[in-house]
Amino acid sequence: MLNIVDQLRMVPEVARLAQRTPRDPVTAWEGYWSRIGTTGTQGEVLWDAEIGLEADQYAQAIDRFMDRGLPIIDGGCGNGRWTRWLAGRFPSALGVDVADSAVRRAAHESQELPSVAFRTADLTAPGAGLLLHEEHGDANVFVRGVFHVLRPPQRKELGRNLRDIVGDRGRVLLTETNFRGNPLSYLQSLGARPGNIPAPLRRAIGGIPVPGHFGPAERRAAFPDGSWTVLADGPVTIEAVPMSGRTSTSIPGYLAMLGAR
Ligand SMILES: C[S@@+](CC[C@H](N)C(=O)[O-])C[C@H]1O[C@@H](n2cnc3c(N)ncnc32)[C@H](O)[C@@H]1O
Repeated sequence: MLNIVDQLRMVPEVARLAQRTPRDPVTAWEGYWSRIGTTGTQGEVLWDAEIGLEADQYAQAIDRFMDRGLPIIDGGCGNGRWTRWLAGRFPSALGVDVADSAVRRAAHESQELPSVAFRTADLTAPGAGLLLHEEHGDANVFVRGVFHVLRPPQRKELGRNLRDIVGDRGRVLLTETNFRGNPLSYLQSLGARPGNIPAPLRRAIGGIPVPGHFGPAERRAAFPDGSWTVLADGPVTIEAVPMSGRTSTSIPGYLAMLGAR
């Protein structure tokens, strides 16, 4: 049950934690990943959950709309859980992340998979998309949980780079959390209570940029109608690691499949 009094009682602790987050997002992400000791369902990374049910939602969209003969790029791949899943569906999968520590961890966790590679790069940097297109030609792109942690100008830059990567034949499968309440009610929905904020959440509050919501309006701003066609979009359920005695933690999300116009 979401309770406004509990939300207010959490303010001092949340504010204290949030003060630790570096202002520069690249520094913040590198710091976050460099301090992660364990990943997976019992690990420290909030969004690194069981992928089964969530993946079923994406598999259908991939089969319907993506050319599975093209390579796929996992933009903002983190520790590469989804890059590895994608590698089973495309000839090759490249995970790209701005945090070198994330990329090193992803490579370590993917040692057994020959069709997976990882790269450190800022996907909001001008020209990043053109460079990847020069290397791979038209490619598909998967993005999970990256736009909602970027500010609007960076969202536009990322959208522009994705346009260069997909060329004429690639498509973008975008999946983002889209919780519509305030940041405190979001924390509460994930299991935070006054004096009891679960460890994966504490790490996120004190380490990475504050997430925003990302739905159709935010997508339209980052993927303007003049450059993109929406092939499908709608609600999706995104899984986070279980917290506070739960077996799973689900977050309302938004999915879009996009092609270049
Ligand atoms: C919420 S995590 C999601 C990770 C992964 N997509 C997943 O779902 O497991 C967001 C990821 O985006 C990465 N990221 C943030 N800004 C980025 C940027 N400008 N370029 C590339 N990666 C970025 C972060 O380092 C982090 O690993």
